Parts: sequence; C-alpha cells; structure tokens
Amino acid sequence: MTIANPRDTGVQRLPFDLARIRRDFPILKREIAPGVPLVYLDNAATSQKPVQVIAELTRFYRDHNANIHRGVHTLSVESTELYEAARAKVARFINAPKTEEIIFTRNTTESLNLVAHAWARKFLHEGDEVVISEIEHHSNIVPWQMLRDARGIVLRYIPMLPDGTLDLDAARKIIGPRTKLLSITAMSNALGTIVPLEVLVPLAKAQGAVVMVDGAQSVPHLPVDVQALDIDFLAFSAHKMLGPTGIGILWGKMALLDAMDPFLGGGDMILTVSMERSTWADVPAKFEAGTPNVADAIAFGTAIDYLDALGMDAVREHERDITDYALRRLADVPGVSIFGPMDADLRGGVISFELEGVHPHDIGQVLDTHGVAIRTGHHCAQPVMLALNVPATARASFYLYNTTDEVDKLATSLEEVTRFFGGAR
Ligand SMILES: Cc1ncc(COP(=O)(O)O)c(C=O)c1O
Repeated sequence: MTIANPRDTGVQRLPFDLARIRRDFPILKREIAPGVPLVYLDNAATSQKPVQVIAELTRFYRDHNANIHRGVHTLSVESTELYEAARAKVARFINAPKTEEIIFTRNTTESLNLVAHAWARKFLHEGDEVVISEIEHHSNIVPWQMLRDARGIVLRYIPMLPDGTLDLDAARKIIGPRTKLLSITAMSNALGTIVPLEVLVPLAKAQGAVVMVDGAQSVPHLPVDVQALDIDFLAFSAHKMLGPTGIGILWGKMALLDAMDPFLGGGDMILTVSMERSTWADVPAKFEAGTPNVADAIAFGTAIDYLDALGMDAVREHERDITDYALRRLADVPGVSIFGPMDADLRGGVISFELEGVHPHDIGQVLDTHGVAIRTGHHCAQPVMLALNVPATARASFYLYNTTDEVDKLATSLEEVTRFFGGAR
C-alpha cells in the first residue's frame, strides 16, 4: 500500500523549541480584538490543535475516506489500515501490552460509563464497594451513583485535605476487603493535584480490587505507562492532548475486556446474528458498535506522533516550570488566593484561584477583554467546590505551547481586574 506512514516506524525526538512549537498552532496567532492577542489558558477544558493534526483530518477526507472493516475496495482498506495504525500508536503511547486492548470511544466520559455498564453491572453485587475520591470530575462520580441506585453497590469517597491533596490515611481505612473497584483520577482538573497512584494502586491491589484510572488530565501532560502503574483500566480524551473532539480511549486488560459483555449492540460488534441470538466479535470490535469516528481516530494518531516527537518527559518538565513560575507570579498579585498544593512537583499545569471581592465569572469576562482565556465555574467538580466552600473558582491551565510571558499577561490582567472592580488593595 502506498500510504505506509513513515512516522509509524519510530519517533525522532525534537528539541523543546517553544517558538517553533507555537508556530505549529495557527490559533495562537489569533487576536481576540484588534491588537489584543489570544492568551489561551483553558487547556484543561480542551487543547489547541497543531497544523499537523488539522492537515491529517483534511487529508483523510480528501484522499482516503471510506467506511472501515467492511469493504474490499482500496479506499476501505486504506481507511481501515490508517484507523488500526492509530490504535497501535495509542497502545505504544501508554505502553499497553496489546494493541487490541485499545477501545476507541467518544471521550473519557464514555470510557468511564462503558466500564460502569459493561464491567461493573456484570461483576459487582449489592454491598460491594466502589471507592472514588472527593476530587473527581463528575464523569467519575455520576456513573457510580447511577450504579449504586440501580444495583445497591456502596460508593465511598477518599476525602480531600485542605491543601487539595487526598487524605491517604483515610484512604488506607476506606480501601478494604469489600472494595471491588478503585476508580480514581490521576490528576484533578479543578486543582491540578497529582494523585499518588503509587500509593493508592497497591492498597487496592492488596484487596484484590480492580483499578480504573481517569487519565483525562494526566495522559496529555505526563508520561503514563499502564504496565508500570499496574492498573486495569485507563480512560482519556484526544481533545485534551492536541487531538480532535469526539474521540476517546478506554484501555483495559484483555482478560477483563474479554469477560465483559458489550456496551452497545449493532453493526461491527457481532460475530454472528440470527433471528434468535447474536454472538460477539472479539475485543476491540465488541466495544466499537456502528461506524466509528474514523477520521478523528486517525488524526488523534497524528497528535500522538507530535507528543511522541517532543517526548512526554519534556512536556511535563516544561509545564512544571511554567506552573512553578505561575504559582509564584500569581501569589504576588494582591488579592489572589490559590487553591491546591503550592508545590509544582505535586500538581499539573492547572491553577484554580479566587480574587478577593470579585466573582470568578467577572474575572473571566474582564480577562477575555485582555485576550486571556481562562475557565470559571465549578469545573464539573462540584464536590471540590463544596470542600473549598466556594461556589466557583477561576482556573488557568497550561499546555506545552504556553510561555512565561503569557503567565505575566495573566498576572497583569488580574491586577487590571482588581482596579476595574475597585477590589483588593
Ligand atoms: C479529570 C477529568 N475527567 C473526565 C473528564 C471528562 O472528559 P470528556 O469531557 O472529554 O469526556 C474531564 C474533562 O474535563 C476531566 O478533566
């Protein structure tokens, strides 16, 4: 086949050249108003996309578009090969033992729901305990509450300490013989806290529990190796890691995936169908009913090439440095209080804060007039807001293309916000 992709054969590491990286992201040249350049600090919600990913989408629709796994014609064979090559890239990226353990879903939310339906509904019984934490995103809370209401499982929360880290002493008491599943975020989207999986996973494993990790915030920003972590399921979304929206990943150990029933029924996920019954295709097809999001999966593969070329260690190092700078810079802005751990080694590039006397939504709106895009609200983590006793926070979140100049712009704009509202002295 003529479209064999040289990028599949190995990754050549590129130096972490910020100016060159920024040139790959056309949107970073945008002005929000004449003379007001965009400072994009809402990366925990979604990342921007490099030209390589945008071009791959166009190239797929222009040159290869066809449905996959169904045709003998050239385009269908090409599309299938590109789609499966993307699956292999994802597997390598997280060090999955088998490419077939990678399931394409729509996003992290769907991946978590898939496990709640196809694994937990089959294998958990009344009284079994599912342990999550107080710092989860709603997508790792609501499916378990729904399961609790439907099946009578017990849902237990590892509490958050005032500094935004998890109470590990409490975790040691909560994770016990009745724990059948630990489903835990690796990094909080509301506070940036990096969760010590190296402590929590062995606690759960010692009880024979299955471990699911919500990697929506960790996989885009840190090296993640599912074998080294010794976990069973991992969920993440392409759109937070330079890829398109509408494509996500569930990785699971083959033995668990094999034992699970399908999530959705329909085309492509069956082996045979008669009027009476159906039998299931092998994993991963068993979990990919209907026409999948072929183009976005392929472009996600290109996003992974991009991250691989930089190296996730370098991405983490850059973001740690930016976060460290931002923690110090923002702490100097009168009236700013930062939530979560103050040590950049303990957090990802997410900083939630409040500004004395100004509602977070007002902060967001005034910053927008300065071109600075941040997120305000509860960040789909209302239990964190309850624990902090605030209705909402302002949140700046960084990615591999952000600069210290942009942090300075955030800080000086916050000073403007204070002046505008006549707030902190
Ligand atoms: C920690 C965490 N989990 C889950 C999600 C849900 O991701 P998605 O909306 O892509 O399904 C998010 C999104 O912000 C997140 O930050």
